[in-house]
Amino acid sequence: MKTYNIITYGCQMNEHDSENIAGLLEAMDYQFEEDAFKADVVVINTCSVRENADKRFFGVLGQFKKVRTHNPDFVLCVCGCMPQQPHIVEKINKQFSWVDIVFGTQNIAEFPELLEKRISTGRKQRSIIDNNPVIDEAEMKPKRMHRHKALVNITFGCNNFCTYCIVPYTRGREKSRVMSEVIREIECLSADGVKEVMLLGQNVDSYRDPAGHTFADLIRAVNKIDGIERIRFMTSHPKDISDDMIDCFRTCEKLCHNIHLPVQSGSDRLLKRMNRHYDTTRYLEIVDKLRAVCPDITISTDIIVAFPGETEDDFEGTLDIARRVRYDSAFTFIYSPREGTPAAKFPDQIPDEIAHERFDRLVDVMNRISLEKNMEYKGKTYDVLVEGVSKNADDTYAGRTDGFKLVNFTSDKKPEEIIGTTVSVLITESKTFSLEGREIT
Ligand code: SAH
Ligand code: SF4
Ligand code: F3S
Repeated sequence: MKTYNIITYGCQMNEHDSENIAGLLEAMDYQFEEDAFKADVVVINTCSVRENADKRFFGVLGQFKKVRTHNPDFVLCVCGCMPQQPHIVEKINKQFSWVDIVFGTQNIAEFPELLEKRISTGRKQRSIIDNNPVIDEAEMKPKRMHRHKALVNITFGCNNFCTYCIVPYTRGREKSRVMSEVIREIECLSADGVKEVMLLGQNVDSYRDPAGHTFADLIRAVNKIDGIERIRFMTSHPKDISDDMIDCFRTCEKLCHNIHLPVQSGSDRLLKRMNRHYDTTRYLEIVDKLRAVCPDITISTDIIVAFPGETEDDFEGTLDIARRVRYDSAFTFIYSPREGTPAAKFPDQIPDEIAHERFDRLVDVMNRISLEKNMEYKGKTYDVLVEGVSKNADDTYAGRTDGFKLVNFTSDKKPEEIIGTTVSVLITESKTFSLEGREIT
């Protein structure tokens, strides 16, 4: 029996691509091998969103150089966002000659063919298409990471070209899947025991299928599917979020009271330079609307610190909007220049020292707010969808509230009877990134 392993970096799109790749390999009778260095086929699914992702990847590639000396059948494959950039493929070809197969984000369906060709001919395979018009998602049989929650692509690619971002270059132009196909997929997932779906797109708010269905239409349709208990989505773009979508928080009882709404910066001048197409006034207006429709909604965000040209004033604007919105959680990043993006060529790059100093200040503010917000949960009871055994302790389970708060809690139940069910948990302790509690029966 031949074995495989997949190493995944990056966002949920990559995670889902890896599920699809695992499905393809299992259909070819490959079996999962826990230890990547013992597997016959290793697929490295890469991310290129920041420089440290690049560095990690090349480090890992190096580690696989010697594997063929003890396993002559070993096949090393690279896919994901990095090989979508010609200079990266060039570097792989020149410096990492032991890579057998390289394929792009839009060539996943071709992978079995590439693998067979590599094995039968011994020749290296490269397949990177820039803008594949075909969306083959419906033919995929993903091997899902979780039994009770599933990732579902609704759009591919991105047309926004935020000036710092590599994604439009690595994922191609935006395409929406046909709504009826998405619905059919989720009906199958539900029949398979899935309770929670995460609708995925770089900008879900610009979803529009050939029949003109909008993201709000899609949510309303998913809301009607029997067996599905929770609907989540990622990522919203403040420039495209509609009142109709916001209203879904009122009308669709399965839509979780949670939104990830990246703000990126609290400076209107920088938002313009980032090509984000909204300003702080518009952003705060959306937050107000969301809270008016759904008072207990939790809000998370992405923030970039030290974007080229960021002044102390601009940065104060970011701290200010963070304090005004009072985010439940935030992903904060130091700006990382990406080759081929406009911002990488901006002359006024910020020195590392200032970037780190601002980053630390921002994280302090965000963490304090997160903890304050989590303190409000203490002593109250919440519905928690149980995902598995907690990472910290064997006798503790982990799950999420409707608002996406991570809860580690104790229960007398056995894993097989509790995982995948929704239980009531009394919150006994609040931390910055999680809550603790015990099941109430
Ligand atoms: N499509 C999503 C985000 C995709 S990338 C959106 O528009 O919000 C995830 C996050 O990575 C971004 O929100 C941004 O905050 C961050 N990011 C992207 N490019 C970056 C760069 N060059 N440097 C630092 N952070 C970056
Ligand atoms: Fe990148 Fe902007 Fe597209 Fe998000 S919307 S993926 S940040 S270009
Ligand atoms: Fe990374 Fe590509 Fe996702 S660059 S964040 S894996 S779209």
